[in-house]
Amino acid sequence: MSRPLTIAVPKGRVQKQLVPLLEHAGLVAARLLDDDRALVRRTEDGSLAFLLLKPDDVPTYVEYGAADLGVVGRDVLLERRYDLYQPLDLGIGRCRMVVAGVPGRPLPALPRVATKYPRVAAEHFARSGIQAEVIFVQGSVELAPLVGLADLIVDLVETGSTLRENGLAEFETLHEVSSVVVANRALFKLRHREITQLLADLGRGLASR
Ligand code: PRP
Repeated sequence: MSRPLTIAVPKGRVQKQLVPLLEHAGLVAARLLDDDRALVRRTEDGSLAFLLLKPDDVPTYVEYGAADLGVVGRDVLLERRYDLYQPLDLGIGRCRMVVAGVPGRPLPALPRVATKYPRVAAEHFARSGIQAEVIFVQGSVELAPLVGLADLIVDLVETGSTLRENGLAEFETLHEVSSVVVANRALFKLRHREITQLLADLGRGLASR
């Protein structure tokens, strides 16, 4: 038997949102939520295997063919270029990538911008004709303007509570973000029948939600 169709999944919020979506598509995927440390989770019928990964690593596994498909936020695809198909938007993990800062605080001539998305941020400020110094941080980005590391941040906003609770305000939306299915180009052709079936099931599940 060929290997199960392998899907790279980001650990965390999207992992949880994915299960009802898969079940809506007729796929029993509860194994995805089991509270253990297994990084490969197979469905009981053995047809699907899920790889649990850090969100940023999902496209890498798919691009190199270690997974046939992946679920990844558009933010990750905006920041780094990958050679992948993007056949389906799942509409989960919805958020916005924004510029934010302390309301009313004047900006210096060369503002510093803290972000997990240095390329997107640099492109944005260059396009806007604003000279800015971009500082890469891994997380807790909202801290940077509070302690003098940066004047602005470029980060994701979902409910807005992290910005609010840290006294920051959103200045500009750069991109709408949601999770999309990505596919390895060669495997998409090799396993076309199985993959298009799965995408059709997911598409039907999405339409009937
Ligand atoms: C994300 C994002 C914001 C927060 C936004 O961080 O980077 O900090 O969620 O969500 P909200 O608008 O609903 O408050 P995450 O929780 O992934 O952790 P991180 O700060 O370590 O990146």
